[in-house]
Amino acid sequence: MKLGTALSNSATKALLLGSGELGKELAICLQRYGVEVIAVDRYANAPAQHVAHRSHVIDMTDTVAVKQLIAQEQPDFIIPEIEAIATQALVDIEAEGGCTVVPNARAIQLTMNREGIRTLAAEQLKIPTSAYAFAQSFDELQAAVDSGIGYPCFIKPTMSSSGKGQSMVKSADQLKAAWDTAKSSGRVDTGKVIVEAKIDFDFEITLLTVRAKNAHGDIETHFCAPIGHVQENGDYRESWQPQAMSAGAIEASQDIAHKITAEIGGLGLFGVELFIKGDSVWFSEVSPRPHDTGMVTMATQRQNEFELHARAILGLPVNTAMHSEGASAVILGGLNARGVVYEGLDKALAVADSEIRLFGKPEAFTHRRMGVALATAENVDVARSRAAKAAGMIVIKPD
Ligand SMILES: Nc1ncnc2c1ncn2[C@@H]1O[C@H](COP(=O)(O)OP(=O)(O)OP(=O)(O)O)[C@@H](O)[C@H]1O
Ligand SMILES: [Mg+2]
Repeated sequence: MKLGTALSNSATKALLLGSGELGKELAICLQRYGVEVIAVDRYANAPAQHVAHRSHVIDMTDTVAVKQLIAQEQPDFIIPEIEAIATQALVDIEAEGGCTVVPNARAIQLTMNREGIRTLAAEQLKIPTSAYAFAQSFDELQAAVDSGIGYPCFIKPTMSSSGKGQSMVKSADQLKAAWDTAKSSGRVDTGKVIVEAKIDFDFEITLLTVRAKNAHGDIETHFCAPIGHVQENGDYRESWQPQAMSAGAIEASQDIAHKITAEIGGLGLFGVELFIKGDSVWFSEVSPRPHDTGMVTMATQRQNEFELHARAILGLPVNTAMHSEGASAVILGGLNARGVVYEGLDKALAVADSEIRLFGKPEAFTHRRMGVALATAENVDVARSRAAKAAGMIVIKPD
């Protein structure tokens, strides 16, 4: 294992495709090892671009543009941070050799389309999931619901994230509107939607799972303590670690996460989303990268999810131990404006054992995540109230 010197001929270079708040923390971790970081996004001054050696603004869904940039930068590692990427470019680049797509190009392709990952998990690996079907027309959707999936159910575009185009349908009269929403708001119109039976879970978790080399060079799978979270309109609002759960549910969760990440392969951290009811566990989806709910690990773990991802990618050993219980609460824009100002940090940081991260996004939107509050405490309940209190102290205003 060797690393070069950034900004010299020997540099070890990492190209981030997607430069949001998760990419920003990853860039900082990579910088600490002297890696040369190149941050790419579709708009200028994205969070990771504030802390990278260089940045580029391109349309990341444009295969030619992605290939051109990679040819120009010659990175050792290509690290996708988002799903909306020209994945064929990554497949071609990987096949040419000479650089590593993290964790690998197939993982990026499989997870950007719900059909790929769901079919792999449920049909090939026989992992429990909600009942589901894919539909290419409203009639097919209606037939799938009538022939077993039933109500309530979720209708989602096969290519979307952050809850976009997704609806929960409680009765037959709502199905057509859900179909129209899914068809019109997907990232890419694949012509297909997925319908999933609603799982009546007690709670949902993200199980951060790391595939990293040990000192002998063998790949081992490590699990972080489960992260509980609350979702609203398809985006997370609060997360905490650890989520209390039964020994049986932990074992089943780790078994599922191990199976799915072993099949995906490569090195790195994965966010495995699971639904839990008693000792039963259902797989929902997996991100082959740090997860937004995992931002809580910036407060709770010795090596947070970004450090774990950086180490795993670079072939370095990892430690997933926690040092404290803790929680995170998101700070939303609350308004639409460019160059906003933040007030109340003094009050927020007066909350015991709290931290605030402001992402530096150039433009705020009402529901855009602009920052996150973190807190530790002797237990998760206290940490949750501290994080929520600190987040609530931040006031975002126009300049
Ligand atoms: N089949 C289901 N049963 C119960 N709840 C569900 C189901 N599918 C989705 N949900 C709820 O909706 C949330 C978002 O779903 P999902 O993760 O599939 O969407 P997403 O667009 O990929 O969101 P993200 O990108 O934020 O993970 C889940 O975390 C869960 O709370
Ligand atoms: Mg999800």
